Amino acid sequence: MPTVSLVLLLFISYLTILTAQPDLRYAYCFHNRGKYTNTSSYQSSFNVVVSELNSNTQIDYGFYNLSHGQNPDRVSLIGLCRGDVKPNECRSCLNNASILVPKSCPNQKEAMGGYDECFLRYSNRSIFGVMETDVSYYLWNLNNATEADKYNQVVSDLLGALRDQAASGDSVRKYAAGNESVNFQTVYGAVQCTPDLSQQDCYGCLTGAISEIPNCCSTKTGGRIIKPSCNIRYDNYRFYDTVVEDSTLASPPTIT
Ligand SMILES: *[C@@H]1O[C@H](CO)[C@@H](O)[C@H](O)[C@H]1NC(C)=O
Ligand SMILES: *[C@@H]1O[C@H](CO)[C@@H](O)[C@H](O)[C@H]1NC(C)=O
Ligand SMILES: *[C@@H]1O[C@H](CO)[C@@H](O)[C@H](O)[C@H]1NC(C)=O
Ligand SMILES: *[C@@H]1O[C@H](CO)[C@@H](O)[C@H](O)[C@H]1NC(C)=O
Ligand SMILES: *[C@@H]1O[C@H](CO)[C@@H](O)[C@H](O)[C@H]1NC(C)=O
Ligand SMILES: *[C@@H]1O[C@H](CO)[C@@H](O)[C@H](O)[C@H]1NC(C)=O
Repeated sequence: MPTVSLVLLLFISYLTILTAQPDLRYAYCFHNRGKYTNTSSYQSSFNVVVSELNSNTQIDYGFYNLSHGQNPDRVSLIGLCRGDVKPNECRSCLNNASILVPKSCPNQKEAMGGYDECFLRYSNRSIFGVMETDVSYYLWNLNNATEADKYNQVVSDLLGALRDQAASGDSVRKYAAGNESVNFQTVYGAVQCTPDLSQQDCYGCLTGAISEIPNCCSTKTGGRIIKPSCNIRYDNYRFYDTVVEDSTLASPPTIT
């Protein structure tokens, strides 16, 4: 019955399309920090942490820190959404990342990865409140900047000002975004730390990230540097929403 199996096959691929997560923007596996085996206690702690992440509907400020299990099989996880991302989108984004990061880094005890809107990391170490800057993941816009020296100076000034603002944020949000004119265009920037960092560590992490721009991105219109504890991004188009969701504000009236 070839027709039946064809229909079945089409149905299965339809289901796959319906449920598949969009590809991650990036993933980084810490290959030198150990592996766990399937059915290990680490794996079960990991599953608990991921299900706690995915069932949490209380957190509405885009920062999740969770841990489960006893040493040496304790798993700690941090989820962070870009400061402007709405709670539902944040949850969906982290949910998808929690499926795909472990697929990109199979059986790795420590990994990080995510999308434009969210970032996920986990480890067998305690990672809360600890600044981690040893690793950087670079992404850049392929387009070249005109008058690159001038452009880079404006980018660096903009990101420096945003860093000061983000570092002085509170324990639920350390994020800042803004824009500046350069060469008859506008450059947009956004910087963020995991808000469990102190002001000083956030400032230090972002300063380090900004200083790495020449390593990847300085001839380009846009670049991103993603570290476990902080990330920066700039480009010549607005890649963030200017309305930051704030649960303490009433929802705007509906215009009919
Ligand atoms: C994490 O796992 C690595 C590799 O298995 C091990 O060397 C390290 O001691 C572990 N760290 C903790 C805090 O258990
Ligand atoms: C571990 O589990 C994953 C997902 O179920 C599977 O893809 C992988 O092949 C398994 N690895 C081993 C070594 O059995
Ligand atoms: C999350 O971080 C806060 C400090 O920012 C800490 O007090 C809390 O214990 C952490 N949560 C877990 C589950 O470890
Ligand atoms: C997560 O994946 C689902 C498909 O499983 C998709 O519909 C949804 O848009 C994704 N969420 C985000 C924020 O990308
Ligand atoms: C950017 O400049 C480099 C070197 O001059 C050139 O090879 C590349 O094609 C340019 N890229 C674009 C998108 O124009
Ligand atoms: C640029 O930033 C200013 C605040 O510094 C803001 O008022 C303006 O709306 C922003 N422009 C764009 C296009 O986002």
